[in-house]
Amino acid sequence: MRFFIDTANLDQIREANDLGVLDGVTTNPSLMAKEGIKGEANIKQHYVDICNIVKGDISAEVIATDFEGMIREGKELAALHEQIVVKVPCTKEGIKAIKYFTDNGIRTNCTLVFSVGQALLAAKAGATYVSPFIGRLDDVSTDGVELIRQIVDVYNYYEYGTQVLAASIRHTMHIVQCLEAGADVATCPLDAILGLLKHPLTDIGLAKFLEDYKKVNG
Ligand code: G3P
Repeated sequence: MRFFIDTANLDQIREANDLGVLDGVTTNPSLMAKEGIKGEANIKQHYVDICNIVKGDISAEVIATDFEGMIREGKELAALHEQIVVKVPCTKEGIKAIKYFTDNGIRTNCTLVFSVGQALLAAKAGATYVSPFIGRLDDVSTDGVELIRQIVDVYNYYEYGTQVLAASIRHTMHIVQCLEAGADVATCPLDAILGLLKHPLTDIGLAKFLEDYKKVNG
């Protein structure tokens, strides 16, 4: 399973990238707004800055909700950098836009996916990635990880090429569950990635190793 970081914060992106295990970045309009990135030129420059930090796929989301607007924005975003993947919401217009992008060699991430039916349409349209939002399903008493499992099964059975990108991951356990469910990618907050490192027995064991070393070596 590949790791993306789900943020527009450049410091966090650098920190995750420095770990050496980062495969890409996802952003969305809310994450860009959280960092105070506003205005078309600044937003585009921010995507380029991210591409210059991480060598991997970088999702950049369209704002338009109509087909023509999505196509215009998506082409502009894709032209920014070869690593850009155009993120498109899973709506009727969005599916049409994804099909257009597929036919024109532009890679896509179908976002805001909450059901197997939506994932089916994304795959049929040729999306590079499909992004089921597992945390937001958990928020409404629905098992988000189970949706990942179902989509992975269906895609494997019918041999769809679309990769399952588990999104809206809130904590470390979500990452482990997505791994077990067969997700191709998990896009995670930095805290959740770093949380994978945490184990008290590691800390206790390391302290003991260092203590024993000092006993002999001074
Ligand atoms: O990848 C989608 C993500 O940014 C949404 O996360 O926590 O707002 O549901 P969240």
